[in-house]
Amino acid sequence: MFKKVISVFMLLFICVFFNAFFVNAAPTSVVLQIDNSVMTVNGEEKAVDEGYDTKPIIVDGITLLPVRAVIENLGGNVNWNNDTKEVNITDNENEIVLTINSTQALLNGKVQTLDTAPVIINSRTMLPIRFIAESFGFNIEWNENNKTIIITKNDTSENTESTTEIASEQITESENIKDETLEPENDSNILVAYFSATNNTKGVAEKIASELNADLFEIIPKEPYSDEDLNYGNNSSRSSIEMNNESARPEISNVIENIDDYNVIFLGYPIWWGQAPKIMSTFVESYDLSGKTIIPFCTSGSSSIGSSAKNLEKLSTANWLDGIRFSGSASSNEITEWLNSIKNDIK
Ligand SMILES: Cc1cc2nc3c(=O)[nH]c(=O)nc-3n(C[C@H](O)[C@H](O)[C@H](O)COP(=O)(O)O)c2cc1C
Repeated sequence: MFKKVISVFMLLFICVFFNAFFVNAAPTSVVLQIDNSVMTVNGEEKAVDEGYDTKPIIVDGITLLPVRAVIENLGGNVNWNNDTKEVNITDNENEIVLTINSTQALLNGKVQTLDTAPVIINSRTMLPIRFIAESFGFNIEWNENNKTIIITKNDTSENTESTTEIASEQITESENIKDETLEPENDSNILVAYFSATNNTKGVAEKIASELNADLFEIIPKEPYSDEDLNYGNNSSRSSIEMNNESARPEISNVIENIDDYNVIFLGYPIWWGQAPKIMSTFVESYDLSGKTIIPFCTSGSSSIGSSAKNLEKLSTANWLDGIRFSGSASSNEITEWLNSIKNDIK
């Protein structure tokens, strides 16, 4: 009897383990095409907008579509509030609020600026899929040849390979835009370190790290920046005061223990009044970076990287390469293209 009970428990354990590991780990891949009302979800054809003939469109370079079916197939939820004209999109961890005709969106309560406002066309809400997919941490690829968008959701790192297989099966007639592999032979010598107050630079940093299979380090302020701290319209806000004080060095709460392991460091930050936030000066001065190659990158509303990296460079003895500025919603393609252009510097 005892043996039987043990066997039943073992069987149950195997079932639960199998289910958790293999079923939940399965990646989902959605392929959409501009002007096509049919999408594929893991190879199965489905309507983009059930009951309607709505097709994804491009407005000012941004793909818009009714996202409910896509998001639900990727495990999220979409709710529409007709009174406020707001769309609330959630997954297990994140919440996005988009408002029709507004370029201001909320991601987990923080204001984000969209390149194109959501609109209503033929009574269907057309939303920016890239912003939503990237906010949820999905991988999104654009294939210019056949105007295809491939969104993949990886639940575990184990499934990266199979996701890639699924995606490439679905675009057989076209060339994959990731034409070159950028993975360094020794994947432990590149670090992507960044500070991000509203997650824009974080998104870019994550894409660089994922593309290069590099380690990622978020520079976390000891005292987090509140919305009021970031209010650049107020001369007495914390960010204004810090940026007007040449010797301000906001404290960092975390440390890179193994800095010696890295010989290439990508260093990311947002532009604040044309410069890097003062916490970046704290970071650069906290480590002996001599002999290392630093590649700066930033995100901004519109400003260029300007003198921001040159001014940080003055604080360290590292070898600094030219930096680059991205918009807050830079695409994977833009980032891949840049990484391809500097690949000889990061070997
Ligand atoms: C305090 C403050 C100052 C800013 N100054 C500039 C600026 O001078 N030029 C600009 O183009 N954007 C400016 N921005 C916008 C940010 O650079 C931009 O939103 C950036 O992508 C934010 O990155 P993050 O989300 O990683 O913090 C500023 C934002 C803040 C909060």
